[in-house]
Amino acid sequence: MDKLVIRGGNPLLGTVRISGAKNAALPCMAAALLTDEPVILENIPQVRDIETTRKLLAAMGAEVELGYGRAHHRTTICARTLAAPEASYELVKTMRASTLVLGALVARCGRARVSLPGGCAIGARPIDLHIKGLERLGAKITQEHGYVEAVTDRLRGAEIVFDKITVTGTEDLLMAATLADGETIMQNCAREPEVADLAALLNAMGAKIQGAGTSMIRVKGVTKLHGARHRIIPDRIEAGTFIVAGSLTGGDLNVAGCDPAHLTAILQKLAETGVKTVVKADSVRVMGDQPLQAADMNTEEYPGFPTDMQAQYMALTTQAEGTSIITENIFENRFMHAQELVRMGANIKIEGRRAIVRGGTPLSAAAVLASDLRASASLVLAALVADGETIIDRVYHLDRGYENIEEKLKAVGAEIRRVGNIFPKRAAAPAQS
Ligand code: EPZ
Repeated sequence: MDKLVIRGGNPLLGTVRISGAKNAALPCMAAALLTDEPVILENIPQVRDIETTRKLLAAMGAEVELGYGRAHHRTTICARTLAAPEASYELVKTMRASTLVLGALVARCGRARVSLPGGCAIGARPIDLHIKGLERLGAKITQEHGYVEAVTDRLRGAEIVFDKITVTGTEDLLMAATLADGETIMQNCAREPEVADLAALLNAMGAKIQGAGTSMIRVKGVTKLHGARHRIIPDRIEAGTFIVAGSLTGGDLNVAGCDPAHLTAILQKLAETGVKTVVKADSVRVMGDQPLQAADMNTEEYPGFPTDMQAQYMALTTQAEGTSIITENIFENRFMHAQELVRMGANIKIEGRRAIVRGGTPLSAAAVLASDLRASASLVLAALVADGETIIDRVYHLDRGYENIEEKLKAVGAEIRRVGNIFPKRAAAPAQS
């Protein structure tokens, strides 16, 4: 099991280039199931979840090419025939976003069998709203043996109002509605940029979608979609993570190839703590030469402060003067990084959905454990400023959503290396003479 070893204290200096957004690439790969023609996606990030999705689509019978040559991070997916419109538990348990194939499979094949995702470290994360929406579109749903089975002759357009704002729920039903008979109007939709990116691909494939990126989306169903080529948007969470890293380490870091328009809430909150940035069309330069001040933060659905940046923000506030109150409104158990930060010297108290961070505490290196993707990122950030050498275990969590993070950090001055098992197996005792 890989570990990251990070010696803190180096300011990050130079330019880091942001990869494509994992959370846009995943639904866009699922969208390829809606047509029997090739779909080409560019700017695909080289992360574990993309490989998992490749396996998932190939297991259904789709042809999936995935290449990460210097010139391109590209995948070509052709779902000419789908012999097995299924998502097995073995794959879904490693990546809950596999449920994104549900809507596309029902719409394309008239049936789908997808494993329920089961529990998750950060919260219950049911998919009841995905299922309710599909039933509104006319799918007959049964649940047994841990699987959701959906069948339909043809989905029909309907009015859907989401009880709660759900990102992949919006994406799942958006895909299903593109091939439904008639018009679908979805309200209380997620407004994340990844939803709009998926809609851009679907419209390039011949779908008729209006309003993606707002809370109301209209879809006029069509009988067939064709192939298309699409470039995935940059990863706003990776960009936010590196902006925090540049500030925390007192560096001067140019975060290039991002879309600042997706970072408004993040940049506004960081400015409140004193983080200094220069924003250009496709980059954010962050200068960490200012002392940081505490600032309260509530996670909200987009365009509010993203829950996927909460752990990274917490790491930042451990170094800000004063007390910051962080409220996690989206998931019920997304503070697992807090105790690991406390082991490094942070002063954090958890009270239900609130974390009270008393900042200005120097951090010292420790052996720590990553628990989920964004918690891992916050431990990396803390290690970059901790005194000494931090060892982060279970970095496979990090590899799910950050492309080559140690190469990117090393290139701007971090002292970081990836190692296998740090404590080599004890040599076998010599045979008793
Ligand atoms: C997406 O997950 C992202 N994943 C998550 O990113 C992100 O944290 C989350 O949106 C919130 O922004 C992908 O896009 C692949 P939700 P998703 O449905 O769609 C409840 C990362 O770190 N809910 O918007 O699964 C749910 O329990 C990952 O990259 C229901 O109750 O999140 C949660 O409390 C982590 N019923 C809230 O809604 C449902 O049917 C928001 O969840 C669906 C959701």
